[in-house]
Amino acid sequence: MLDGEYGWACQVCMQILVKLGELYGATRLIPISSAHISGVSYKTVGDAAIEFLMEIAEKGAKAKAFSTLNPSSIDPCLIDRFPRKLVEKQAEILQLYKRIGAVPSLSCTPYYEYVPAKNSNLAWAESSAVVYANSVLGAWTNREGAPSALASAIIGKTPNYGIHKPENREPNIIIDVLFQPRNEVEYGALGYYIGEVIRDKIPIVKGIKDASLDELKQFGAALASSGMTSMFHHGKKSKSNERLEAVTVEEREIKTVIEKLSSSKLEPDMIFIGCPHCSLQEIRRLASFIEGKKLKSGIEFWVCVSRYVKNKEKKLVRIIESSGAKVLTDTCAVVTWTDKLGVEKIATNSVKAAHYLPTMNKAEVLLIPMEKCVEIAYE
Ligand code: F3S
Repeated sequence: MLDGEYGWACQVCMQILVKLGELYGATRLIPISSAHISGVSYKTVGDAAIEFLMEIAEKGAKAKAFSTLNPSSIDPCLIDRFPRKLVEKQAEILQLYKRIGAVPSLSCTPYYEYVPAKNSNLAWAESSAVVYANSVLGAWTNREGAPSALASAIIGKTPNYGIHKPENREPNIIIDVLFQPRNEVEYGALGYYIGEVIRDKIPIVKGIKDASLDELKQFGAALASSGMTSMFHHGKKSKSNERLEAVTVEEREIKTVIEKLSSSKLEPDMIFIGCPHCSLQEIRRLASFIEGKKLKSGIEFWVCVSRYVKNKEKKLVRIIESSGAKVLTDTCAVVTWTDKLGVEKIATNSVKAAHYLPTMNKAEVLLIPMEKCVEIAYE
């Protein structure tokens, strides 16, 4: 493949993997059970990605591994609200990925539909999914970039380095959490704070053993937004070496994170729930808060989910949508152009979204739990 015997597309992909392997001291390639490819939203990747995808698709690139796609920039029901050129460019990207053989899952939570087996090797991009796969699902994936995830999808393998080696999955710092986070925002803020402190270390986090899967998802997504960590350990079964460096986290640190990411006096013109895309459980919770209520005029309420979750909970989706909110698939408020829709102030329960929205969408952010988002948006 590297010599070009299998064509130019395979050669380029192999070159990417070999370079990475050399850089990080891998000794061989290992098969992967799936790839999750980022670099799908036209807003974030632009024309260069289209050119590259077109070239490899035309030269016959086909995914050898089962491959899913991260969110795009447009949900089908937003098409009329964006200039035609953007819609066409996004459609072109999706078409090219389909030609390569990737499944158009268009979600950052592919693991709800396609649960990777424990201890299976993956090549996933999308940092929140990487942390969730390693820490909650027990699968093994480095934090891939868009090119390396795509290259692994096509070759069906990844270089054996980093988190694919058992010795590199061991915790190397202890985090003692001295308070009990009360909601998803506090779990996110905790992850964000730890990510800033530990950068790329692997923490064992003590004191969050009762966290729900959704809280762990928020924690991990925020951890990966402020730092470079690919996994964390937690829970009863995690054993730590007591000689490791230890850091304590108190409630005041979390409050500071929330104050830093959130404007306290803000009347949002949009509410965004679903970063990372909502689980079935989150949709149920949200529907229970919204049922029977009416959205205030002048506020958009976006709930972002995978197509899988939307299809699974049709009744709850109807409850949410009949209140005036929108349940969107294929995108999220960060990777689409909310600013082009005239949105300037966004309330969200996601620390990861609060981290990115000011720079990527020029939006001011109010960071509050789901329940509070509903309170301020509904009559
Ligand atoms: Fe997913 Fe968008 Fe957040 S891709 S993790 S919902 S920024």
